Parts: sequence; C-alpha cells; structure tokens
Amino acid sequence: MGVIGIVIFSCLLQLCYGAALSETSVLYKKRFPLNKWRTDAIEKLWNERKAMDKTPLVRGPKLGGFPNLELFYKNESASRTGSIKHRQAWALFMWAILEEHVGEKTTVYEVSSGKGAVSDAFMARLVGLRFIALVPDEIEKTWTDAIEANGGHSLKCPRTQRMILAKNLTEGKKNRFFMNQYANLDRAEDISESGDHSHESVNIFHEILLQFRSMSTQNAPSFFVHPAQTGGLITSVGRYVQRYSIPTQVVLADSEFSVYFDYVVHGAFKNESGEKLWVMPGMYGVGYWGQAILGQTISLDPAAIDLAIKIPDLASVAAMHYLKSVGISCGPCSGVNFVALLHIAARDISKRVTVVTPISISSTSYENTYYNTEWIKQQFSKHGSFGCWMKAVTKAVEKGWSPLEIGKYCNEEKMDL
Ligand SMILES: *[C@@H]1O[C@H](CO)[C@@H](O)[C@H](O)[C@H]1NC(C)=O
Ligand SMILES: *[C@@H]1O[C@H](CO)[C@@H](O)[C@H](O)[C@H]1NC(C)=O
Ligand SMILES: *[C@@H]1O[C@H](CO)[C@@H](O)[C@H](O)[C@H]1NC(C)=O
Repeated sequence: MGVIGIVIFSCLLQLCYGAALSETSVLYKKRFPLNKWRTDAIEKLWNERKAMDKTPLVRGPKLGGFPNLELFYKNESASRTGSIKHRQAWALFMWAILEEHVGEKTTVYEVSSGKGAVSDAFMARLVGLRFIALVPDEIEKTWTDAIEANGGHSLKCPRTQRMILAKNLTEGKKNRFFMNQYANLDRAEDISESGDHSHESVNIFHEILLQFRSMSTQNAPSFFVHPAQTGGLITSVGRYVQRYSIPTQVVLADSEFSVYFDYVVHGAFKNESGEKLWVMPGMYGVGYWGQAILGQTISLDPAAIDLAIKIPDLASVAAMHYLKSVGISCGPCSGVNFVALLHIAARDISKRVTVVTPISISSTSYENTYYNTEWIKQQFSKHGSFGCWMKAVTKAVEKGWSPLEIGKYCNEEKMDL
C-alpha cells in the first residue's frame, strides 16, 4: 500500500504541478554561480558609501526674533557630486542592481532637470554602466557639462515629453532600463538604522540623528523640513522616524503651484493632472504637477508626512536671497524650507524648537536664474512683489513673526525691484 500510495501521490503531483516541479527547479540556487559584475558593482557601491561619509550637520545663523529656535543645516551640497541627489542616486543604483533591473550591459535612462542626472552619471560610471539623461530643452549648459564630466550623456527634449520618451526608448528594449526616480525612489530608499554595522545606512535621517545627538541636548529635532520633488527622500525620513518612534515631525514644504500639498492633505490629484495649474518657472526641484499615483508617477507617501505647508514662490525666492546675505549658499529648496520653518517657529515662539533642514545644493548653479534680479523680474513679475517679500522675510526674522502673515499681500502688489 505504501509504495502504491507514493506512486499515486507523485502522479497527482505531476498532474497538478507538471513541469514546475522538475528536479532542477528544486536544486537550482539562483545566486550561484555568482555574477561577477553584479557582486563587484555592489561592493563598489559600498566602497562609495564609505567615501561619502557623512555630509556635515552645521548650526544655522541665530535669527534675532527667534531666540528659542535652533536651526541645523544638513549640508548636502558637500556631497561628492554637490547635491542631495548623491545619496538618492546611490539608493536607486543599489536597488536596480539588487532587483536585477540592470546588468552588465544595461544602458540606464533617467528623466532629470539636471542635478539628479549628475549624481546618476557618477554612480553609473562607478559600476560601469552607460547613462543617458533626458533633460528639458531649456536646460543650462552648466548642467549638461556636469553630466558629461561624470561620464554620462544627455538628450534634450520638451519638458513635458520626457517621461513618455523615456518609456518609449526603454520599454521592451533589450539592455535598456528607465530608472524612473518618480516611480521607484521610495522603494529604493533605505529606511533602516544600521547601528554599528560597517555597511552604514544612507538614510539622511540616520546620519542626522547621530550628528544631532552630539550637538544638542535634545535626543531628536522637533522638526525636519523639506520639499518633495519625487517625494522619495522625505518619505524615507517619515518612514524612518515612524519606524523607530522618533518624536520628530516631518514637514513637507511645498511650492505654490505644486499638487503635493493638496495630494497629502486632501488626497487630491490621484485621478487628474495638475499641469494646467502649474506656473513656470516654479521653484526648481520643488513640487510636481502631474497626476499623483504612489509607486507609479510619484514616490511621496502621504503617510510619511506630519505637516504640509504651501509657500508662495516669490516668498521662497526672497528667502534664498536672505539666506545668501547671511552666508548660506543654497538653491531653491532651501528658500522654500526657510519660509516654512519660520512659519512653524513663529507659531511656537516661546517654546524651544529645533529644526533640521537640508541644504540640497549650493547657490552656484542658480547665479543666472534665482540670484539674477533681471531673471526674477522676467519670470516672477506676474506673481507679485519681490521687494515686498524681501521686506517680509527680513522683518519676520527680526520680529519672530511668520513671513506668510507679514507678506500676505505681497502677491497682490506690483513688482518693485
Ligand atoms: C556646505 O558645504 C559647501 C561645500 O563644502 C561649503 O562651501 C559651504 O560653505 C557649506 N555651507 C554651510 C552653511 O556650511
Ligand atoms: C515611440 O516610438 C515609436 C517607434 O519605436 C514611434 O513610432 C513613436 O512615435 C514614439 N512615440 C513617442 C511619443 O515618442
Ligand atoms: C478618474 O478619471 C476618469 C477619466 O477622467 C473617470 O472615468 C473616473 O471615473 C475617475 N475616477 C475617479 C475615482 O474619480
């Protein structure tokens, strides 16, 4: 009976599972023999992680009207490719290699407005892959030069066509992969603490906490303030602080015409695009105007955000100029962050408030744009008064008030440069 039973049983198995239960599928261990390119690439990324070390956390300037505000800048412009995108590119390449989206012969494509592509090009060269960035037609030469200098290539196309083109160039094509930071960054980002492990987490908040605790009597900052572009970085911070029950509030600082604020607060734009609402030039690297589908078109998870604030673009430009005047060299993100954090600090003026916010990039890349008053006039005169916002930001700092309150009529005033 025993023998017959086994025979019948195995026949049934054969019937049910057919070829799936062949001997090789039981014995086959996928990772061996090792793919040398892949193992080497992973090791090279870890060596790069060591070389990256930690970007500095520095105390921000004392702001007269805010005696209880302690501001800390995480200086990502000190990254090896000059921006916050360095750790993002690391995460994306590690993810793409681990999930075997890319192999030795892959050409990697990415949609970028500049700074991300510089870091991607760096990582692609590090692991020996070809990299092509789809950049907007109007991109400045400094960006394309920097992409080339890091071994990448750029392909100019109309701003709104880049996604479609990237898909078109890669879908169904052998040895081509569209990295798509918008869809994939939140899967790629590290949300783990690494303790004393020699392979250290690249999560920005992991670094921030270690540094913050050695500089402050508090255990964690009250707020982390940052905008979203893809949303992957701030999502990784939100998930990290929630995962480890860290009492830091994660604040999304959004730009004026971006869909993210309404997406996070009201669940809007999941089924429609915000393209018609977007007003150029916006704040480069801040916000998003398309349809917002987590994991497909964006990497911003509303569950990761504690607080969202929408900032008028011209207020953010004024804040960039204020910061530069007090010795902080930064880009558009920091302008948006500064208005947001002053607003938050003004609400709790009598309480001790500690804020950590990144400097995503230095001011150098924006001398011809956000730091050029002629350009501001051309681009932003339709928005309101730059002079009025400059006064609002300066006065806010002096008095400990919210620049959004003081400046609330600045968008109705005429341009007065
Ligand atoms: C950030 O780092 C850059 C590059 O090292 C440096 O030039 C800049 O002064 C730093 N900014 C601050 C606020 O420390
Ligand atoms: C996509 O590629 C095909 C050829 O591969 C071409 O016919 C088509 O026009 C392309 N579409 C876009 C939107 O670029
Ligand atoms: C989403 O939009 C499509 C087409 O615009 C519409 O048919 C559909 O009902 C919408 N779905 C929701 C949930 O609003």
